[in-house]
Amino acid sequence: MNMASIGILCSIIFVILIRANAAFVKVQCTTESVGQYGQQSLLDCNVKHSEEVSDFQIRVVVWKKEGVDEPVLMFNKEEITSQPGFQFAEPSWNNRNMNVSLLITNTKVVDSGAYGCMVIGNSGDDMSDTNLKVTAKYKVPTISSIPEKITLNTGGSLICKSDGGYPKGEIRWFDEYNTDWTKSAKMEAKQTTSGLVQLSSELTLLQGSVFSKYICQVFNASGGKEAETTFNIPVTSEKHERKEEKKENAGLATKVIPPLLVIGALILVLLAVFFHKRRSQQPRRQSTTPLMGDHHQACRCELDAEQGDLGTNETENS
Ligand SMILES: *[C@@H]1O[C@H](CO)[C@@H](O)[C@H](O)[C@H]1NC(C)=O
Ligand SMILES: *[C@@H]1O[C@H](CO)[C@@H](O)[C@H](O)[C@H]1NC(C)=O
Repeated sequence: MNMASIGILCSIIFVILIRANAAFVKVQCTTESVGQYGQQSLLDCNVKHSEEVSDFQIRVVVWKKEGVDEPVLMFNKEEITSQPGFQFAEPSWNNRNMNVSLLITNTKVVDSGAYGCMVIGNSGDDMSDTNLKVTAKYKVPTISSIPEKITLNTGGSLICKSDGGYPKGEIRWFDEYNTDWTKSAKMEAKQTTSGLVQLSSELTLLQGSVFSKYICQVFNASGGKEAETTFNIPVTSEKHERKEEKKENAGLATKVIPPLLVIGALILVLLAVFFHKRRSQQPRRQSTTPLMGDHHQACRCELDAEQGDLGTNETENS
């Protein structure tokens, strides 16, 4: 045996002796608890002490949450102090009650994490850690489509949303033949102010390869299916579709016609003015049916004469 192994042996014996001493009081907690969002959560811790101590009493209990300075629950100098929403699980806890479990009355996402419970008794002290996992069930998803009126022929995309869950889960897509289309979709997870997660997934439907039914399923963080919603793509007959198209065209026409009417009317008025002036000038001319050249000339004269009024540059064209 060399010096190093003797050293190690001594250390082990030392640790065992300390452990034996600490064994007078022991705090035992369940390593992990799962709490439901909005419900009560229990962090179960109990104090064990050697039977030799006939009159064991607890002097101090300190419940701390990792990352929070102030204890969430404390018993010290015969007094219980706590932060809102934290209390002893035992309704009328006193210093002879070895069940020092912590109760969280309204579990929030921020309550998840590591907790430590320290107990000082009249014959020793000990502490133990425990972990709280918070979960929340995702709501039944909703599906909307882009465009709003989607058909087997149009293509487009479907958007499936589910919120109120925790931790981050997953949205998966299937068609009526149970083919997984999740790879064709893009999912986003947003954390709301409450800490809960909103999942949103967009599935692109390519024109000509659209199925008549799409199922959006929400899975929780551990892969358990929580809810699903089915979206039926409307099967519209050709006739129906054409009608819809016509309706759309009609709608377009009524939107386009007014400006056209206004311009048309304007042209008519201008033409009326033009011909009226021409007619009033006709008696001055010899021929009532002028040849093309004459006609052109006449027009030119008129335009030249009226250039001041109309200000057109058409005269430059010929
Ligand atoms: C401690 O008390 C709580 C609340 O009364 C109870 O639910 C829990 O089972 C108790 N733990 C033990 C180990 O008895
Ligand atoms: C996930 O869902 C399954 C099945 O519904 C359930 O048993 C499990 O506890 C859930 N897990 C979480 C982390 O919510």
